[in-house]
Amino acid sequence: MKKRYLLAPGPTPVPEHVLLEMAAPMVHHRTPQFSAIFGEAAEDAKYLFQTKQDVLILASTGTGAMEGSIVNCLSPGDKILAINGGKFGERWGKIGETYGMSVVWHEVEWGTACDPAAIKKILDDDPDIRAVCVQASETSTAAAHPIEALAKLTRDRDDCLLIVDGITGVGVFPLPMDDWGIDVLLTGSQKALCLPPGLALVSLSEKAWKFADQSKCPKFYFDFKKEKKNLANKTSAYTPAVSLVIGLRKVLQDVKEDGLDVVHARHNRLARATRAAAQALGLRLCAPDSPADSCTGFFVPESVDGAKLVKCIRDEFGVTLAGGQDQWKGKILRVAHLGYIDTFDVVVAISAVEMALKKFGHPVELGKGVAAAQEILLEGY
Ligand SMILES: Cc1ncc(COP(=O)(O)O)c(C=O)c1O
Repeated sequence: MKKRYLLAPGPTPVPEHVLLEMAAPMVHHRTPQFSAIFGEAAEDAKYLFQTKQDVLILASTGTGAMEGSIVNCLSPGDKILAINGGKFGERWGKIGETYGMSVVWHEVEWGTACDPAAIKKILDDDPDIRAVCVQASETSTAAAHPIEALAKLTRDRDDCLLIVDGITGVGVFPLPMDDWGIDVLLTGSQKALCLPPGLALVSLSEKAWKFADQSKCPKFYFDFKKEKKNLANKTSAYTPAVSLVIGLRKVLQDVKEDGLDVVHARHNRLARATRAAAQALGLRLCAPDSPADSCTGFFVPESVDGAKLVKCIRDEFGVTLAGGQDQWKGKILRVAHLGYIDTFDVVVAISAVEMALKKFGHPVELGKGVAAAQEILLEGY
């Protein structure tokens, strides 16, 4: 029996007490008993999103909430700016094209953040752009985009929204929706919320709800106005993912108890420790100038096949990390530190990377990365 560790950027491990909570016998969703749970989860989600607006709870993956944001806020023919710095940025553009929007692709070099000055120029030059679509954390490259700076560009433009995929950002680092003026913020359950996949949460600003009133995209399941109406009665339009909502309520209670600042600080400490470890091992970071605190990516040495390295770490050592996608396939490793992950998970991940590199013939001083991480991890105690 091999002991396994799940340290990939989603799905992330689910805490034991949350698993137990979700294992309770099924309850019917149209009952006062479940409505109380649903209502409590939706209310506590406002704390997570740092908003006074409703947070809709959808039975879907994160991509469903991305698609829902586009179809609810925009119309065919609308022009949107897709900030494309990785797999998920590309997804914004693809969704827009699917619904007949005119997509302005803003290409960003993988591993870097977009430059707000460049975005300002695009918006100034093209007042027809109705939405800027971006990732808070572009999980495929481990880079973070400057959401606060982007929000400063859009918050005073009545006819342009900032739509933020916070799937590996919400609950990881600060994204205060109301304070910054983010118009649409969304996340998925299988990341920092430490739940199984299957729930998406999304919130719209007052400005975004006005856009929703004008939207002409076809929609049936992902109809946010319908969901908002149902939420007022502590329910959802269709059968909610009952067990996941029960888990969500528990996780959000925990987040409130710890405090969002504490949760963010933990993610930041784990992220800095992982980055320090990679650098101590001489491994080049994927996003050295704008790293996200959700996961750390680094290039594997050229002599090593990254795909084989990931496989060895997973199948032989029992530690699941993530490799690269598309242009970085076989070239990088990504170590996640979001959700139910703490100090000693980072130690395990770095130790596994060191041992695997040595096994693959790369000269490694065992313990060097772990020691560099430990120096930072200790700050938490
Ligand atoms: C930043 C980001 N956006 C979107 C997605 C897609 O989410 P899902 O697979 O839940 O649809 C992911 C998943 O890893 C992600 O990390």
